[in-house]
Amino acid sequence: MKVTVFGIGYVGLVQAAVLAEVGHDVCCVDVDAQKVENLKQGIIPIYEPGLTPIVKSNYEEGRLQFTTDAKMAVEFGEIQFIAVGTPPDEDGSADLKYVLAVAETIATHMQDPKIIIDKSTVPVGTGDKVSAKVAETLANRGAEIDYQVVSNPEFLKEGAAVSDCMRPDRIVIGTDSDHVKDVITELYAPFNRNHDRIIFMDIRSAELTKYAANCMLATKISFMNEMANIAEMVGADIEQVRNGIGSDERIGYHFIYPGCGYGGSCFPKDVQALVKTSEQIGYDSKILKAVEAVNDKQKSKLPELIKRHFGDDVAGKTVALWGLSFKPKTDDMREASSRVLMETLWAAGAKVQAFDPEAMEETQRIYGSRTDLALMGTKEAALNGADALVICTEWQSFRAPDFDLIKSELNEAVIFDGRNLYDPQRMADRGFDYYAIGRGLSIKQST
Ligand code: UDX
Repeated sequence: MKVTVFGIGYVGLVQAAVLAEVGHDVCCVDVDAQKVENLKQGIIPIYEPGLTPIVKSNYEEGRLQFTTDAKMAVEFGEIQFIAVGTPPDEDGSADLKYVLAVAETIATHMQDPKIIIDKSTVPVGTGDKVSAKVAETLANRGAEIDYQVVSNPEFLKEGAAVSDCMRPDRIVIGTDSDHVKDVITELYAPFNRNHDRIIFMDIRSAELTKYAANCMLATKISFMNEMANIAEMVGADIEQVRNGIGSDERIGYHFIYPGCGYGGSCFPKDVQALVKTSEQIGYDSKILKAVEAVNDKQKSKLPELIKRHFGDDVAGKTVALWGLSFKPKTDDMREASSRVLMETLWAAGAKVQAFDPEAMEETQRIYGSRTDLALMGTKEAALNGADALVICTEWQSFRAPDFDLIKSELNEAVIFDGRNLYDPQRMADRGFDYYAIGRGLSIKQST
């Protein structure tokens, strides 16, 4: 089938590459000429396991093309995916200007019927707005051409985006058209194996499904972070509590890891956007507001522990930081807890020596010329002469470090662990002051 994808960001590029990989012909279009040129040269704008080889091979074999030519792209596919960004505007609502601009572009150039699929995460009711924009643009042209607007939200996780797209848990399709149902069933047939994963519903329900899923996951995390804070104060260990509750199948082990807060391009933005949508319809969403507030507070947890340890005086201290990306296996730093940590430490006059396996370039791009940030080539180099080690992201390579080396490189044997990677008692036995999340305020070597 011939498919056009507007927007070569995370969602668009992964979806396009995976569709091409199973044999569809895919045309990707973006306004960013440099990005398009880079992709033609095999330079992929994001780090995502498994993505580079399938982009390159499908481009070379002619099933995947990249262009800035919107007219050509609109003519190309019967199916037109909208996968452009929906950044939050000042009040936290999702900004639809890019989505609606694509709708207008499609309607400006279309000559035959199109199925327009909304892949971007958009507030409930956006399908109607896209439809209205297409209708208005066609009317201005004096053209009468059939079109259908469909909601097909994406559930991919960064770091596992290709496999999530290849083996989706579910494919949610919001439409009331039988023709669309047939076409989409054929489009996704290669991914719909073993059991039926396609769930058809109305457009608004599909749009809300995406927010409900992300908000539920964010709620689980904030709930656990709140439990961790309570555990800390009552002298319990949240990791034992986590095991205890996860064994109940109704709760489950997934997504109940306490930590220094959730980040990324989805949870913070989507929770905020649903709060906003609720406000607009006169509903006060108490749970979602609390989820956001707890997360904001949790991101300050490590800086607070550091300030407490150093007696409120961190000026002049140097902190070694392991982990900059918002989670492992990605270089994405959007809403990362590491940023709150660094910015708080800098404001207090401390310096940071940081290492991340993938996010060094991104950190350089964001914080470039700061004199109070040194980007180090290895995790060991980051320790050299620092006063403490802080861990913000649970990369595998941080799980079993050389603790003797850490001790000898640091001025003081103290670790602030935002991801509960180590056993507190063993850390105390090794001679560290070890601060973690929800496991007692500090396990000191002397206690
Ligand atoms: C998320 C959803 O999982 C995905 O389905 C949706 O389409 C987009 O948003 P992503 O943003 O890639 O995906 O990251 P995810 O793996 O869900 O992690 C989000 C954040 O939650 C990370 O900062 C992670 O460290 C944190 N997290 C996750 C926890 O703090 N505890 C957990 O138990 C799980």
